[in-house]
Amino acid sequence: MTEQNPNETTYCDLPEDFFFGAALSGPQTEGMWQAHGKLENMWDFWSNQDIRAFHNRVGSYAGNDMGARYAEDYELLASLGLSSARTSIQWTRLIDANGKLNREGADFYHEMFTAARKAGIEVFVNLYHFDMPAYLFRRGGWENREVIEAYAHYARIAFAEFGQEIVHWFTFNEPIVEPEQRYAHGNWFPFVHDFGRARNVQYNISLAHSLAVLAFRELQAAGAVREDAKIGLINCFTPPYTRENPTEADLEAVRMADGIDNRWWLDLVTKGTLPADVIETLAERGVVLATRPGDEAILAQGKVDWLGFNYYQPTRVQAPARDTDEQGDPCFFDPYVWPDAVMNKSRGWEIYPKGIYDFAMTMTRDYPELDWFVSENGIGIEEDHAKRTEDGRIDDLAYRVPFVRDHLRWVARAIEEGARCRGYHYWGVIDCWSWNNAYKNRYGFVEVSLQENYDRRLKASAEWLREVTHTHHIA
Ligand code: FCB
Repeated sequence: MTEQNPNETTYCDLPEDFFFGAALSGPQTEGMWQAHGKLENMWDFWSNQDIRAFHNRVGSYAGNDMGARYAEDYELLASLGLSSARTSIQWTRLIDANGKLNREGADFYHEMFTAARKAGIEVFVNLYHFDMPAYLFRRGGWENREVIEAYAHYARIAFAEFGQEIVHWFTFNEPIVEPEQRYAHGNWFPFVHDFGRARNVQYNISLAHSLAVLAFRELQAAGAVREDAKIGLINCFTPPYTRENPTEADLEAVRMADGIDNRWWLDLVTKGTLPADVIETLAERGVVLATRPGDEAILAQGKVDWLGFNYYQPTRVQAPARDTDEQGDPCFFDPYVWPDAVMNKSRGWEIYPKGIYDFAMTMTRDYPELDWFVSENGIGIEEDHAKRTEDGRIDDLAYRVPFVRDHLRWVARAIEEGARCRGYHYWGVIDCWSWNNAYKNRYGFVEVSLQENYDRRLKASAEWLREVTHTHHIA
């Protein structure tokens, strides 16, 4: 794709059956990190080890207190006109250290899902949101094939336990993030900088995904999972761009960035294979995947029923300045700084609403059979609290509304032009905990007060959201 200006689009109506919902995750909302016999995940472990790694020293422990107030939270979401919410089961709450179902943890989730249903919210369940159990990490985490088996085993138990009540399942949220953050860029524990290890983790997660899909299909065929249930994968796809008038080498950089971040997963979930051109280029540059006989047959099981597209920002790359980095790892692309980029300064992410449309049209062209929805989109702002008005409400109309409006309009246009996008989940809706950033950037239409027992209060934008969910018109 080449550079295009983020022109506004005037499409503003979404189909009647288009759904609106909230994106959440277990580790970022539930809290109760030691209740129900829950074991330590990587975030709990890291919080204990070095609380200074977390903004304002707020670790993983409390989430946004949703574990204690899910009934009212789901009612609050429904009152905004939302009809669904995706959250995740925490592996460490559902499964004990012997790999058996933890009944107390399972009951917690049954009760939570029942409360959501009562409020009129359909829960979509994701199985993994960067929350590797610490005891499995000590055994190598995603680098160890036994852990892949353990994940498939956990998935099987979850499908069997909730198979009659949940319709929409997902194997992973953003499977590209752990390879990048933990193994390539070294930002997250265990702080590894190794491109080859990162690609092997990515490969192993692809196997884990495929084994979970296989378990799902088997249990569905056996009647343990409802007939109308669907399985999918959620990733943060980044539409790739480069400079205007690119060289061959710039285009090559786009091919590899797109190949590793996007096509890898799109091919896996639609064809049950990994993109041959990417694997070949990696091998030519010395990045060898530790494949085993039989892997191809496993990956072939990875095809899904639909896909979640998390969209925050595009990726802009150019030809790398050097072939290899200081430790001899190959470089395939450098970042390209687009002079016209509009940035969300709190998060350091570019705001480019048109990217959602460009990627939608790429999927429509290259993967025409694939149904999907926007599974995350949102804006995290550090100064939210500074916008409090006299009535005590945060007035976020000047930034949160335009952000969501512009993205939704581009979605409306993509649908008009044939994209198979079925709905939109806003990330957060209710402020929640964000990994190392903890509560630094607030995403919600609903404020969570850390000073007042995590109490909830609508922000000004909530009224706007309610209007959109009721009319399907993006004013
Ligand atoms: C995404 C993650 C989600 C949340 C948002 C802001 O990358 O999936 O957990 O932290 O970013």
